[in-house]
Amino acid sequence: MDGHLPYALGAVLLTTYLVYRATKKKYKLPPGPRPWPVLGNLLELKGVPNMWTTFSRLAETYGDVFTLYMGPQCTVVLNSMESIRETFLKKSTEFGNRPDTFTGELITIGHGKSIAFGQQSPQWKLQRKISHAALRKYATGMPLERLLQDKIIDFHKSIDMEGEEPFDIYPKLTLMVYNVMASMVMGKTFEADDPFIIAFIKDVDKFNDTFGNGFMADIYPILKYLPNKSATRIKASMRRTGDWMQETWDEHKANFNPDECTDFVYYLLAAKEEMEAEAGGDHKVVLDDEHFLNILSDIFSAGTDTSRITLCWVVGLCAQYPDVQAKIHEEIDQAVGRDTVLGLKHRPFLPYTEAVLHEAMRLYPAAPLGIPRATTEDVELRSWTIPAGTWVLPNIWALHHDPDEWPEPDKFIPERHLDEHGKLAPKPNSFLPFATGRRVCVGESVAKVELHLLTAMIFQHYTFLPPPDASSKFEIDLVEGLICLPKPFKIVAKHRD
Ligand code: HEM
Repeated sequence: MDGHLPYALGAVLLTTYLVYRATKKKYKLPPGPRPWPVLGNLLELKGVPNMWTTFSRLAETYGDVFTLYMGPQCTVVLNSMESIRETFLKKSTEFGNRPDTFTGELITIGHGKSIAFGQQSPQWKLQRKISHAALRKYATGMPLERLLQDKIIDFHKSIDMEGEEPFDIYPKLTLMVYNVMASMVMGKTFEADDPFIIAFIKDVDKFNDTFGNGFMADIYPILKYLPNKSATRIKASMRRTGDWMQETWDEHKANFNPDECTDFVYYLLAAKEEMEAEAGGDHKVVLDDEHFLNILSDIFSAGTDTSRITLCWVVGLCAQYPDVQAKIHEEIDQAVGRDTVLGLKHRPFLPYTEAVLHEAMRLYPAAPLGIPRATTEDVELRSWTIPAGTWVLPNIWALHHDPDEWPEPDKFIPERHLDEHGKLAPKPNSFLPFATGRRVCVGESVAKVELHLLTAMIFQHYTFLPPPDASSKFEIDLVEGLICLPKPFKIVAKHRD
């Protein structure tokens, strides 16, 4: 080890401590547990099963907005709808950056050009606008419907192969969702044994394992200069992703025909052309190839993990609550039948199925703490001043489990999303699986259509049951970490002939 390293580390730790002291003196921050020098509140958070339930408990003591220190990093946690409205909606620009972290750096192609991890800038705004336009066109047209109808066939075949033996549905959902997103984004499909996609999914799972509980180099940036196997692995995986996106981008540019858009990249090229035509050569904001590669990578990555987790909860919860599953079956049988190919036009006739999806996302939001935000400048909030560069975490899980908004919040009750006529009720303010404000999920409209149709297509043909040897109460546990991931579980699928 370099002999100067301990001194360098010591100097950095001392500086962070002094910065912390100065910040505390200068700003009136929301209350919170007393931090330790240098470590902040990390000791309190170490080993807790889920950060969001710990945050909810801290909110009972300190109020709906409290301050924590992740090491030296000042972090404000928002635990109520009011506080999220006051920040993400009313001060959307000031609360609209992302933390500038090593993880963000590692998973961006090039520098600072990602939608999901980039800071607000005219380029970032245009990346969002152009992606939105392309996704909207893609999601409302025939390609998405045809794609889902096609991909569900392979998924059904893979379930049928299990016979009536208990199996883990997560890998099957994973492959289906990855294929949906790969086809949607770049017009590509993978076989279950394709080594490229197997390696890709392995990289993502490894990334979630490593970074799922927070990455120390994000908190103590000095650590990024030390040898780190996880970082090396992520860099290699991002190089592969970058090459894949580059190949896709070049191929699509070469074959682009605005009258024949079959996937997201073609719609993106069409949206780009439209905007350039509107600007009439007067380009105030220019996006280069790396901006587009990041759009592809962000859309693909943000859409896969969240969707597979959500579908896994839907299936698992329905196995756990047979009465709910019976109601989905009844609705689909009556509104569509078992032999009709399900399509987008059936969505308005399947409100209970949609309510099941909403209730699964309420109970187990795929991103219970959203994606961390950061303040752009010193900003007033209630009687406090939040310093520029503060990390801001929305505790979406807390809103979704607020007993004043959701009586018996831990129970799976899809009916709470329906009105007295059995139609889908207007979305309550305290339901925010896609977050809100300036950085709200870009894929929300696609995700809603995709997940609803896939859910309906799965339950049209199958009944899911706990394994015969399961204890009298079949319950699914959560994996410890920062995402609401179910622990692996096995179920039996019965074909509804
Ligand atoms: C169940 C499905 C999904 C859930 C629960 C979900 C949730 C979220 C959340 C909570 C955020 C953070 C927003 C914020 O900071 O305010 C986000 C961001 C994002 N999502 Fe989704 N998402 C889902 C599916 C998708 C899909 C299918 C796509 C793409 C087609 C997508 C693309 C993105 C992108 C690009 C961002 C970054 C936005 C930004 O930083 O400006 N998501 N998502």
